[in-house]
Amino acid sequence: MTQGKVDALLGIVFGDEGKGKVVDYFTPRYDVVARFAGGPNAGHTIIFEGKKFVLRSIPSGIFDEGKINIIGNGCVIAPDLFMAEAKELESAGYQLTERLHISRRAHLILPTHRVLDRAYEAAKGKNKVGTTGKGIGPTYSDKAARIGLRVGDILNNFEAKYQALKARHEQILRDLNFTDYDLTADEEQWLAGIDYMRKFHLTDTEFEINRALAEGKRVLAEGAQGSLLDIDHGTYPFVSSSSTTSGGVCTGLGVAPNTIGHIFGIFKAYSTRVGSGPFPVELFDETGNTIRHIGNEYGAVTGRDRRCGWLDLVALKYAIMINGVTDLVMMKGDVLDAFETIKVCTAYTKDGETVTEMPYDTEGWQPVYETLPGWNTPLTEVRSEAQFPQAFADYIAYIERATGTPIKIVSVGPDREATIIR
Ligand code: IMP
Repeated sequence: MTQGKVDALLGIVFGDEGKGKVVDYFTPRYDVVARFAGGPNAGHTIIFEGKKFVLRSIPSGIFDEGKINIIGNGCVIAPDLFMAEAKELESAGYQLTERLHISRRAHLILPTHRVLDRAYEAAKGKNKVGTTGKGIGPTYSDKAARIGLRVGDILNNFEAKYQALKARHEQILRDLNFTDYDLTADEEQWLAGIDYMRKFHLTDTEFEINRALAEGKRVLAEGAQGSLLDIDHGTYPFVSSSSTTSGGVCTGLGVAPNTIGHIFGIFKAYSTRVGSGPFPVELFDETGNTIRHIGNEYGAVTGRDRRCGWLDLVALKYAIMINGVTDLVMMKGDVLDAFETIKVCTAYTKDGETVTEMPYDTEGWQPVYETLPGWNTPLTEVRSEAQFPQAFADYIAYIERATGTPIKIVSVGPDREATIIR
């Protein structure tokens, strides 16, 4: 039997590329859908059978009866938030316990990790990362420090391990003089979440995935956040704390590099970023506001305004290189419908120096733009490539040329039918 492959679907800029919209297209093609990094800092908005769901930790194959969904070892999981997310799906009629399997090697986010997240942010003053406050950084820090609690710990002498790590966190909070917290309600829900998790398959998902591949099954690795938030390759220190790029698929699921097939890199026809950190293409003017308003660019997890700008080819090309993207997926083309002209950032400049490759530090660089004609026609009714206005077809061809990568899927509106496969 031919060995199955792992395809990856990755946000390749700053996250929020709208993966939820194309899940309909992707999940039916796979037998297993797996998350390999991150945790409830993600928020994938998915509209299924007319109902809106925000998935944070649960893979989006959960809506498809026949699929196995896996939360891989590279993920971090908050039992209370997981329980709330899962119960919402259960009350909408989805059966979860048989189809959602959680790696025993995934790490647990404790209530005190969330307090530490806030305490570390407060201590940073004006250099705040602008985290989602979900305890992501402190949990991955404990993982790297080899003191973290894993899902597998739930099954074995859990209470003592929990109390020991919590005490350690409380000591750090005392050292930081951080007193602005009350764990009581949080902890109660969290412990209820731990109990709730016991009814799921808490397993060695690495074996499960590799067995599936050996049987010729197809696996979709579903990314979270974006490549420029990767702990190694992102705009450090303004990043998340996991490996969000394709390398993270291997370490976060326990699959070998030679099992990887297609790497779908998803991006928007323009740029956005949530939280702090350098963002050379950010627009502070009316154009930025218009993109935010038309694109509904407000955070799914935190509700924050997203920072908006034109497409950044310097960032896109870098992300394509780091991930080895084989196929691009361009979202939200219709958001640019109203513009007479459209700009694309082709280089950065600072102090007389111009670069086309992503610099070590993106702080202080100014964008160099090329201006292209806009299509200035509504795209939302477009259902096939033949209906593309010429200027839109030219925009796509321009990006393909500049990146050397084909754009295989183009989304031009919120409807399912507004996803065009090329
Ligand atoms: P953390 O992951 O909560 O530690 O946040 C670190 C940075 O990543 C902050 O700038 C967040 O706004 C950003 N971030 C984390 N998760 C997401 C996401 O799913 N979409 C977009 N930005 C995110």
